[in-house]
Amino acid sequence: MKLCITGANSSVGQNLLSHLIQQSDVQITAGVRSERAFGDLPQADNITPTTISYDDDSSLQAAMQGANCVIHLAGILIETKHSNYASANVAATAAVVNAAKAQGVEHIIFISVIGASPQARNAYFRSKGSAEDIVTASGIASTVLRTPILLGPGTAGASSLLGAAKGPTTKVLGGGLYTMRPLDTDDLSAALVKLSLANASGTRTLELVGPEPIKYCDLIKRTAKLMGSEVEVGVVPVWVAKLGSAITSTLKGGGITPTVIDVITSDETVARNADQELGIELTSIDGTLNKILESE
Ligand SMILES: NC(=O)c1ccc[n+]([C@@H]2O[C@H](COP(=O)([O-])OP(=O)(O)OC[C@H]3O[C@@H](n4cnc5c(N)ncnc54)[C@H](OP(=O)(O)O)[C@@H]3O)[C@@H](O)[C@H]2O)c1
Repeated sequence: MKLCITGANSSVGQNLLSHLIQQSDVQITAGVRSERAFGDLPQADNITPTTISYDDDSSLQAAMQGANCVIHLAGILIETKHSNYASANVAATAAVVNAAKAQGVEHIIFISVIGASPQARNAYFRSKGSAEDIVTASGIASTVLRTPILLGPGTAGASSLLGAAKGPTTKVLGGGLYTMRPLDTDDLSAALVKLSLANASGTRTLELVGPEPIKYCDLIKRTAKLMGSEVEVGVVPVWVAKLGSAITSTLKGGGITPTVIDVITSDETVARNADQELGIELTSIDGTLNKILESE
């Protein structure tokens, strides 16, 4: 069995590779955009780091040669001067799909997000929805896995949470009254390992979220409690944050935008959690928070 992972240096990619090290009969090509990123990847006999460029079909095809399954992780929420939703989320996915078709890849797994839709008003959700359509229309067996905010050691979500929880007071968007379904990155990796090693046919779109809905303000307080402290959560009015971010992101050519603020403050709701279908035992929120705190 051979897998090709794009965006292998992403936080999801690094965690997934640490799970795949144990699968000694699986060969993994870990695709990253620069040799500099090789240092972020776990080293193991079954992992081959490779540079890929999403503008260079031959580099993608070389990385996918002989691969049974491609796990496409590259993607962004926060745009920069050099990377936007059109390039990172849509064009990169189209390039991956084209190369996978040319190489006869049997299965593509794409990490999307709860709320993705090609008709979404929000540009991030729309770009992920368009990317989903590219994957599911490819003619290759595909699995789209929509995920909520991911939490685990080293994730962007964990560093914001720890920053807010260290107290004694913090101010967050809208007072953190939006509801999240945080998913442990180890649970996502377990799902990706299962999916990538199984036979696939047709197209499937699954939503995999954490075990418990929780308001962000309560998640901050729970984290503080596990740290042995208390925190008072105040409000940054969403409209103020949007106004400020509109100005600074225009000046900087990227960063937090009103679009990102809308994503962060959206309630994460799902019709049906795929944990049972995937045979995944979900980690409790406290279990995830303890892992994060132990890694500090
Ligand atoms: N983190 C979450 O809470 C969350 C939630 C839902 C869905 N997801 C999805 O899960 C996947 C991994 O997320 P993550 O948070 O682990 O990512 P991450 O750590 O922020 O890494 C982003 C990855 O995307 C690559 N990338 C950036 N711009 C690109 C471009 N223009 N073309 C191609 N690749 C580009 C980066 O490569 P360089 O290092 O070379 O820039 C890196 O490999 C993404 O698709 C993300 O949308 C994440």
